[in-house]
Amino acid sequence: MSDPTCPPWRPAGRTLLLPLAAATVLVASTIFLFAAAGARWRPADAGLPVPTDAAASTDFSAVPVTATPSSNSTSGSKDLSFLDENGQPDDPGGSTSTSAAGRCDPRAAAVRVFMYDMPPEFHFGLLGWSPPAGAEDAVWPDLAAPPPRYPGGLNQQHSVAYWLTLDLLSSSSCGAAVRVADARDADLIFVPFFASLSYNRHSRPVPPEKVSRDKILQEKLVKYLMARPEWKRSGGVDHVIVPHHPNSLLHARAVLSPAVFVLSDFGRYHPRVANLEKDVIAPYKHMAKTFVNDSSGFDERPTLLYFRGAIYRKEGGSIRQELYYMLKDEKDVYFAFGSVQDHGASKASQGMHSSKFCLNIAGDTPSSNRLFDAIVSHCIPVIISDDIELPYEDVLDYSKFSIFVRSSDAVKKGYLMGLLRGVSKQKWTSMWRRLKEVDKHYEYQYPSKKDDAVQMIWQALARKVPAIELKVHRSSRFSKSDRGGK
Ligand SMILES: *[C@@H]1O[C@H](CO)[C@@H](O)[C@H](O)[C@H]1NC(C)=O
Ligand SMILES: *[C@@H]1O[C@H](CO)[C@@H](O)[C@H](O)[C@H]1NC(C)=O
Repeated sequence: MSDPTCPPWRPAGRTLLLPLAAATVLVASTIFLFAAAGARWRPADAGLPVPTDAAASTDFSAVPVTATPSSNSTSGSKDLSFLDENGQPDDPGGSTSTSAAGRCDPRAAAVRVFMYDMPPEFHFGLLGWSPPAGAEDAVWPDLAAPPPRYPGGLNQQHSVAYWLTLDLLSSSSCGAAVRVADARDADLIFVPFFASLSYNRHSRPVPPEKVSRDKILQEKLVKYLMARPEWKRSGGVDHVIVPHHPNSLLHARAVLSPAVFVLSDFGRYHPRVANLEKDVIAPYKHMAKTFVNDSSGFDERPTLLYFRGAIYRKEGGSIRQELYYMLKDEKDVYFAFGSVQDHGASKASQGMHSSKFCLNIAGDTPSSNRLFDAIVSHCIPVIISDDIELPYEDVLDYSKFSIFVRSSDAVKKGYLMGLLRGVSKQKWTSMWRRLKEVDKHYEYQYPSKKDDAVQMIWQALARKVPAIELKVHRSSRFSKSDRGGK
């Protein structure tokens, strides 16, 4: 990767899991497309402190415009599925991503990913899976059979690492990511640690142990990564780790912070450890059922505003409380206390299906699965959270299907109800239609489908690749070990 005459995306004759050797031009144009897509990328949040780390101190806001490769093949530009400015998929020609036999063409992949074959205790072992007799060395479950199930309930909302790992394991998928066998051929190195589940299940020490299993796993992870040549080569900047639960990876997050994190929000992160330039926001897995064949339009939704959640929370409770007392006597506002779990998913869905707007107030974190429940229920989200970050916002315009209200405005008497009552049927209906189009972007599933959450996350990660390569190249300027190629 250090030879300046050799473009970094050109693997010189190495073996990929799927044959990519002939794809140079296509891949080059792919990168070009990312650069183009990146140009719409919202500029860096100027309020963030600049990391002190030399490898991370570049101004990345300039990357999308300057990283355009000289090759200007337009032939490949049809091969990728991107959302246009309106969030509509730029539909690829079909024939280019699928061959005549209906098999996938790996050249259409947006990003090439190498996944560490880490011991099962980091991933499927946390689901109770262990290698079968006769294959004790197996690291991964055999996906000829249904994969081990992720625990249900609220665990599910942070199951992102599980779905991404399954997608990489299933070589038959026609997805945005293609798994490569040699890390040197990869744009990104994926770390298959189910950090959220490790936190959910093992964050408390089990007596007589003094240290939790979650913490021990994190320490092992750090040791594992620091010993890897892949990490040493890049300083970790091309690694992808998925601590989606806000409390997961607590002990290791600072030392692993050069990596790209896939997160639910930045609420519990120091801006130097996680930020919008470096990291990717992924949706919660929604708890409510997706409203399929929704024909419940404006007139079929009698409740104006649906409001679910506990009123008394540790933090963020005050604005919620204020709104509750302000709105509780309004006839067309419906309050449901507790989570979807407490309610039963079908009752909660019913409530959202018969409401025009669903309130989403920052709780103890800026984000919550409530927003995604509203989206798949096609109940226009009303987002009252000043510092929320949203998934794929560089390609998706949330104002087309959500209403944003500043906290300071929301608590003004009469403001919120006035705002919502003032939304015309026509305006509401256009947002509702948009919700029905975008809901697929919030589905986690295996096998993954086109433009679902799994694919959207890979694409978001792919858009980080030019900035990552810039970091790697800058940091290797004076590196002796890299001189003269690998
Ligand atoms: C690249 O392609 C665009 C669009 O097809 C064209 O307008 C532009 O002139 C091309 N640039 C080069 C350097 O070939
Ligand atoms: C939605 O509509 C399609 C086509 O009319 C139908 O095949 C499908 O069963 C419906 N799904 C549900 C969940 O109602």
